[in-house]
Amino acid sequence: MPSTTPRLATLLCLVGLTGATGSAAAGPTSLQPAGWDADIRLAEATDLNPDPRIVEVNLDARVAEVEIAPGLRVSSWTYNGGLPGPLIRANVGDRLIVRFSNKLPKPTTVHWHGVRVPIEMDGVPGNSQPEVETGQSFTYDFIVPDAGLFWYHPHVMSAAQVGFGLYGALLVEDPEERIGVADQLVLVLSDIAVDDGGLLEDPESGGPAGMVFGREGNHVLVNGREGSRLVARNGAPQRWRIANTSKSRHFQLELDGIIFTTIGGDGGLQEYPEQRDRLVLAAGERADVILTPRPSSSPGGLVLRSIPFDRGYGSTEYRDISELVAIEMADLPPYAAPPLARVARHIEPLSQAGATRVAIDLTLAQLRNGEFEYGFNGIPFSKEQPIEARIGETQLWTVTNKTKWSHPLHLHGFFFQVVDDHGDPVRPLAWKDTVNIPYERTLRLLVRFDDRPGNWMVHCHILDHADGGLMGTVRLRGDGVEPARPVHRHR
Ligand code: C2O
Ligand code: CU
Repeated sequence: MPSTTPRLATLLCLVGLTGATGSAAAGPTSLQPAGWDADIRLAEATDLNPDPRIVEVNLDARVAEVEIAPGLRVSSWTYNGGLPGPLIRANVGDRLIVRFSNKLPKPTTVHWHGVRVPIEMDGVPGNSQPEVETGQSFTYDFIVPDAGLFWYHPHVMSAAQVGFGLYGALLVEDPEERIGVADQLVLVLSDIAVDDGGLLEDPESGGPAGMVFGREGNHVLVNGREGSRLVARNGAPQRWRIANTSKSRHFQLELDGIIFTTIGGDGGLQEYPEQRDRLVLAAGERADVILTPRPSSSPGGLVLRSIPFDRGYGSTEYRDISELVAIEMADLPPYAAPPLARVARHIEPLSQAGATRVAIDLTLAQLRNGEFEYGFNGIPFSKEQPIEARIGETQLWTVTNKTKWSHPLHLHGFFFQVVDDHGDPVRPLAWKDTVNIPYERTLRLLVRFDDRPGNWMVHCHILDHADGGLMGTVRLRGDGVEPARPVHRHR
């Protein structure tokens, strides 16, 4: 019974904590039947370090066969042989050590999406580390400064490598947080393009038009599977942390009219909850939601679906609704849940006083040779002039999408706040690292650069668009620290 020891340790720890603080609450207990999430639960990385404040894991990238649907086996690119990669869990403030080795036929790196790492740990070849060649290793070692759901993926040939299956979730929890919902799931949403024989599709499929649109996979996956199942008790709330790790696809989630109460997003909890009957996640974004499953009167029962979302020209025509998770009602009496606690977080709005104004147009050009090129202000990544920034500087970015497709813009290493046309914060306040810039619209973002000089990427998280030129660099200079010119090579 090897699992007894850690459980016992956790129990003792809880008892100890309760005794020491005199607090009565040891946290809510599960309301779901045993095994409710067995079909869908992510594999977790094993923490090899006995120090409670250090999480140390091994991570291998390698080709491995995975089953994405009953009988459909695919040789995908994986972390530790699984699709998605293992869930890595830590508490806020912990040190995370990841001993990474590359057993793929191509070079790669690991980027920690949304984590405010030092530049040396950001996983971008040329800016923070060399590529990790086949057979080589690299140790990622940093503090996780923020609670929230983050994710990891390569930053070399990103569209191809993410499309082949390289992504996983990093859940950073705050033990002080009191949400009042014991039953939690981490859902990694993605898709993969495979033919009927289970072969991965060519990442260049569809040629330039495929790049311009952004290639979506033909199998839509939740935690690496099609047709996942979940058992739920009528009336008992669940907390879902959701990451969209697909390389192009937006998800628009719907659960038979059941309300999603969003309590947070990319950078942890938001100012106050919001209720919606649909939840949209662009590629790269995360959501933290509470929902209460109820029996459905529709013939198929309660099903989590993704509705085609209008992300631009050609994105909704002839598109099917994807059935993501079938939720079966447990054979238990309905639970009469007390009203949920109102989960709030104080977030200081960033002041725009003295903010440097930066205008970024997202553009698409057709070149004389017929090829297409995305760019910032008409300039593709290969020829970019970095956005210059100084430590402590606040910048107000006005991002205008002049193309016919929406672009989830992602900034490495820093969170930003979205502000409205008048520069007032959009409420509820939230920290974002990825935000959808709808086609033919303008969004304004406020960002403050802290004390981590370096070259930080900013790009569309439709990874075909990033490869197609929609990528740039923020060159953050410190006093006396001059980051090298960014290296412009194909990621
Ligand atoms: Cu999630 Cu530059 O990436
Ligand atoms: Cu894009």
